[in-house]
Amino acid sequence: MRQPLIAGNWKMNGTRASAEALMRAVVEGVSGTVGKAEVALCVPFVFLELGERLLAGSAVHLGAQNVCSEPGGAYTGEIAATMLKEFGCRYVICGHSERREYYGETDELIAKKLVRVTESGMRPILCVGETLEQREQGFTQTVVASQIDAIIAANGIESFAQMEIAYEPVWAIGTGRTATPEQAQEVQSFIRARLAEHDKVIAEKIRILYGGSMKAGNAAELLAMPDIDGGLVGGASLVAEEFLAICRAGDASV
Ligand code: PGA
Repeated sequence: MRQPLIAGNWKMNGTRASAEALMRAVVEGVSGTVGKAEVALCVPFVFLELGERLLAGSAVHLGAQNVCSEPGGAYTGEIAATMLKEFGCRYVICGHSERREYYGETDELIAKKLVRVTESGMRPILCVGETLEQREQGFTQTVVASQIDAIIAANGIESFAQMEIAYEPVWAIGTGRTATPEQAQEVQSFIRARLAEHDKVIAEKIRILYGGSMKAGNAAELLAMPDIDGGLVGGASLVAEEFLAICRAGDASV
């Protein structure tokens, strides 16, 4: 049985005051849940210190949304994995479609980021997913397979024992247009099968999250699917009650 992971991806949102209020509300709300699902908040870098303080001793883990592909040194404006670890991060989102699209992140760069995260003792959440155009042309599996295969080729299948995957169809992110549970399940079981071609144990154990307009109203039916092991939640993670309702759906899915 894979423990569900509900991870909030705040993206570039919030102020000191709103971040603090949201963290406090999530910590308080999660303390009243069954706790079967694991919960994490991936916040902007500048709120990590706040997160380290406010989430300490709670069941809510801290995460970041990006990391430098290099271990350290002269990389102006970048943040090293060792720094994230020092601030108490457990998770780091890698290869989000917004980073692939707006910042030109390639599979090769993402593979290096994954190494930085795991060697620093944290767990990457590797994002994969197709655009609407790719889906409509029938290339969903080809695209997702190439994103996964590139990491297997660069880092080995063993690297998947230390990470989570998030399947995030680009057309569902922030659009309010969620993949149906069947659509998500189809791709997520495909990802697991792809990994199983290399290592059945790793494929069976790895958590594959769904991301793309997950909200309180659709979380339960998505999380009920056999290969959906949690959610990477953007917009709905910015509203405490919405996010907590998804956490409760995660608890109920176990
Ligand atoms: P969304 O974002 O829930 O706002 O669609 C999900 C994500 O991009 O991780």
